[in-house]
Amino acid sequence: MQVVRTIADCRTATGAFRSAGETIGLVPTMGFLHAGHMELVATAKSKADRVAVTIFVNPTQFGEASDLDSYPRDEERDLEMLRAAGVDLVLIPDVSDVYPDGDETIVETTRMANILHGEVRPGHFRGVTTVVARLFNFVQPDVACFGEKDYQQLQIIKRMTRDLAFPIEIIGVPIVRENDGLAMSSRNVRLNAEDRQAALVLSRSLDAAEALKNKSVDSLRDTIANTIHAEPRATLRGLDIVQAESLADLAGPLTTPAAIMLSAEFGGVLLLDQRVITP
Ligand code: PAF
Repeated sequence: MQVVRTIADCRTATGAFRSAGETIGLVPTMGFLHAGHMELVATAKSKADRVAVTIFVNPTQFGEASDLDSYPRDEERDLEMLRAAGVDLVLIPDVSDVYPDGDETIVETTRMANILHGEVRPGHFRGVTTVVARLFNFVQPDVACFGEKDYQQLQIIKRMTRDLAFPIEIIGVPIVRENDGLAMSSRNVRLNAEDRQAALVLSRSLDAAEALKNKSVDSLRDTIANTIHAEPRATLRGLDIVQAESLADLAGPLTTPAAIMLSAEFGGVLLLDQRVITP
């Protein structure tokens, strides 16, 4: 596994892959890797001849400098995990390479970045698209993998890739779940045994919504909200039902796939879940 820290070295490595006729799959990360990232790596491996991973804690997607400073980092452990997973190339660029002095270019999906989670995190998705566009240019992959867990991010990156005509296939990788259906998250370890059990209500509420015969936005919303309210340890925090690709508002009977984005708190731990439901 090659570990490179400059764009020039990255281009040399990817150039050699391409000269050998090999395709490249990219997994952009901010490091501190967990099982979800490794699933992205496994998917990239199945879709391309070579896998490149970037580790870059992107300052432009953080609202508060303190969040950026306290973001966990463990490069040595990350590299061990990537080596064990058979990754070919890791790019760990410097902030000054990604954002050179005097930098003034941004990339933004003007509507999608400013709705839903974007409303409460102004500038966050602009930071994500700006860095992902640059990482795409550094690595020039054939495919790039992102988790469906960050559903809005995935749809925004798909839209940016289409709008800017990047010749890159964006692959959404489904949420990794525990055997009992709980979406994997580094926060799960903070749940006590009762809250861990109660948290299964998230996937159960999505199952109930999916099983409805005549689906409408109201019936989906009521089914999910009622299922979650019936669990005394759960506090529903967010329930968005939007058009699955554009993230536009939906109303009435379901006629197109809908993305349901759900968040609830269990003993002070906020958990997320998500599912795309077809009519
Ligand atoms: O999902 C993430 O970890 C980040 O938002 C990404 C896509 C690596 C961009 O910094």
